[in-house]
Amino acid sequence: MAGGGSVARSEGRKYEGGVTAFVVIACLVAAMGGLMFGYDIGISGGVTSMDSFLKQFFPHVYKKQHGNDDHKENMYCKFDDHLLTLFTSSLYLAALIASFFASATTRRYGRKASMLFGGLVFLAGAVLNGAAVNVAMLIIGRLMLGVGVGFANQSVPVYLSEMAPANLRGALNIGFQMAITIGILAANLINYGTSKIKSGWGWRISLGLAAAPAILFTVGSLFLPDTPNSILERGNHEKAKKMLQRIRGTSNVDEEFQDLVDASTAAKQVEHPWKNFTGRKYRPQLIICTFIPFFQQLTGINVIMFYAPVLFKTLGFGDDASLMSAVITGVVNVVATMVSVYSVDKLGRKALFLEGGVQMIICQVVVAAMIGRAFGSEGEAGDMSKSVSSLMLFFICAYVAAFAWSWGPLGWLVPSEVCPLEIRSAGQATNVSVNMFFTFVIGQFFLSMLCHMKFGLFLFFGGFVIIMTIFIYYFVPETKNVPIEDMNQVWKEHGFWSKHVSNDNVTTSPP
Ligand code: BGC
Repeated sequence: MAGGGSVARSEGRKYEGGVTAFVVIACLVAAMGGLMFGYDIGISGGVTSMDSFLKQFFPHVYKKQHGNDDHKENMYCKFDDHLLTLFTSSLYLAALIASFFASATTRRYGRKASMLFGGLVFLAGAVLNGAAVNVAMLIIGRLMLGVGVGFANQSVPVYLSEMAPANLRGALNIGFQMAITIGILAANLINYGTSKIKSGWGWRISLGLAAAPAILFTVGSLFLPDTPNSILERGNHEKAKKMLQRIRGTSNVDEEFQDLVDASTAAKQVEHPWKNFTGRKYRPQLIICTFIPFFQQLTGINVIMFYAPVLFKTLGFGDDASLMSAVITGVVNVVATMVSVYSVDKLGRKALFLEGGVQMIICQVVVAAMIGRAFGSEGEAGDMSKSVSSLMLFFICAYVAAFAWSWGPLGWLVPSEVCPLEIRSAGQATNVSVNMFFTFVIGQFFLSMLCHMKFGLFLFFGGFVIIMTIFIYYFVPETKNVPIEDMNQVWKEHGFWSKHVSNDNVTTSPP
């Protein structure tokens, strides 16, 4: 950071230049990585509830659903099958492992290289899935999609946070989450259409169309410039400065550029980003990059995202009604994400986190009570009246909305902006891998958990939301409007971390 002197105010310093069309377009293209991720999240639930898909790949599940067996009467256990859930969740295991390779690639070869590679592997996976003739092709395809997601999710949020001017970083970064939600909605709509194809190959369209966001992302990333921070990290001063001037729309970028140079010099002294990241000096960042993704998944959101069609079927909505409900929650997800785009740099991260948390808790308690009342603790095949199921759909939507303007976008934004350059790639890889691990766990075990914990499952997630809301209140600093290479100051001004992080950790900047 430039010079010594006083510590900047928590709102951070203002540099010359602003947001340019160039930066907005670059961010829009990069955010396409979110489309791939979202499409995956949304597509598997619908596909695994299509009879033609089950008959071809998982005939025993098909039989279980349609025949007379022990589970038939238990509404909570209707869909519990590990091979089937492995189809959904294998992707996230692959993404978890890939994110570590992505971390090295992103640091050594730039953000753009990771994006390009991720897009290509994802594309190959989509083709394999669309053409699948056996379970092996399905799972290998899913694993390749996972590698693509691991690379994209590791590089895109960092790319966005580095390209954006500080006062718009939240909004531009949330372009990623916006794309995720659009991907989920598109997948829901496509499933709704393809499930109607009588000859039974609709699932091929659903899976194969994942190629569309992959092509957008891959071709887009061929043309994307790399971030000034990354160009500098790889030693090209001249080019980095030119890029900064271009994205800020002014030649007067000296102050910001000097901060990038200082951050990059500090980063060069760090030979082992992983060893450093786990050292005491970076404890707050390590904790944030580990707990935020863990908590994001423990909100239980993916129960809705993956299994909405299955869940709604379980809850007694008819076949069509259940896919329609998934579409409705998909729309709520997209619209509510816009709320955070507009407010994240004004209200700040914490206000959204806290409000969203409280709203989610209320909804989870109500939904648990309603399911408990309808199906009891034995899951007797009870029926829900139309008015009760509509009311429940309302609360599920309110829960999705709360997530969509809080933990959804902020789960990607905050970890990507709190780490200094030297540990940014490592921090983001940690964020992605923890996120993917718990996405996998929920994807793999939700249906069993529902079978065993019954309506209490919703209280289980609600309990976690209480804990995470307290965590945010006490441990997460406000980062709105703070320049990314100026972020170290927030720890010094934070009630808890100022006492636990040594001062040499906190660089200062001129007034
Ligand atoms: C989460 C996903 C989730 C999605 C829902 C993302 O931020 O990482 O796990 O499915 O939001 O919109």
